[in-house]
Amino acid sequence: MENHVSRWFNVQTVPESHTFSIEDRPGKKQIPLCRTIPIIDLANSERMEIVQEIIKASQEYGFFQVTNHGVPEDVINGAVKVLEELFTMPVDEISKEANSNGWVYMGSTSFATKVPICGGTTLNIHATLWNNPCKIGPKSQHGLGLEKGYLGGISQVQFLTASNYPPCPDPSLTLGLLKHFDHSLITILFQGNVEGLQVLKDGKWIGVEVVPNAFVVNIGTQVEIISNGKLRSAQHRVVTNKEEARTTIATFINPCPDCIIEPSKVIVNEANPPLYPPLSFKEFVNVSKPFGPYTDVIQNGCIDE
Ligand code: OGA
Ligand code: NI
Repeated sequence: MENHVSRWFNVQTVPESHTFSIEDRPGKKQIPLCRTIPIIDLANSERMEIVQEIIKASQEYGFFQVTNHGVPEDVINGAVKVLEELFTMPVDEISKEANSNGWVYMGSTSFATKVPICGGTTLNIHATLWNNPCKIGPKSQHGLGLEKGYLGGISQVQFLTASNYPPCPDPSLTLGLLKHFDHSLITILFQGNVEGLQVLKDGKWIGVEVVPNAFVVNIGTQVEIISNGKLRSAQHRVVTNKEEARTTIATFINPCPDCIIEPSKVIVNEANPPLYPPLSFKEFVNVSKPFGPYTDVIQNGCIDE
């Protein structure tokens, strides 16, 4: 067999190393696609209702999708194409092409192999969306009563991950990405045209439908803290499918490591005391376990034997 042709994920059955425990695996139960996660049209972003739409979606689901976000389709498709090409290359070739601007996680969670990639093209995507004066950041801050520029001021670091989920012989046994919270301020995801993302809502998993050219936006734990729990950071996970590979690009808008994140002084008062202690983002990342007991293995990039 020729080595460079065989891919580690080209398997007929899910290897034991990738089979999740009964509690963590998705099982055979059909998870419905949710058609009620709000889709917010940013075309006319001066509309007053947008603020309320974002706040409501962030309270109810912690997730929403945005269309007419101003990022040209060909920029997104170009980025996806580069990444898909990258994912077809042997892992050591990817490393050769790479620099240290980002990470690509290949495969499913328990054996995430981290390899650095160049993120140049794709890094442009989110900046427009979050920082543009009419877009999401300023709207959320307005809806929360935060001062102008507050979220922009602490949105210091943008971190991008591209994920490739190959077709899986038995999606009931494993996950593309284990359930987790994003510890970002917010996350902006391009999920392409293959479904797979699921969100926990009222104790039940719901699938996030594909909306062409939309970005899926979710509230990260840092905005949950700043809003003193008014906006929620929802747990989510990625399931695989038998037929098609799925490539996604997630951009995490993060505070800088030393930035102290705490419930906003504008929001807390006697009737609404702070629910979270102040912590630097760095400390938060060290003590929080976004992937529960699997956090260390995932974040330290455990390579399967
Ligand atoms: C993430 C994430 C979802 C996806 O990278 O944190 O939730 O569909 N990704 O790839
Ligand atoms: Ni996530």
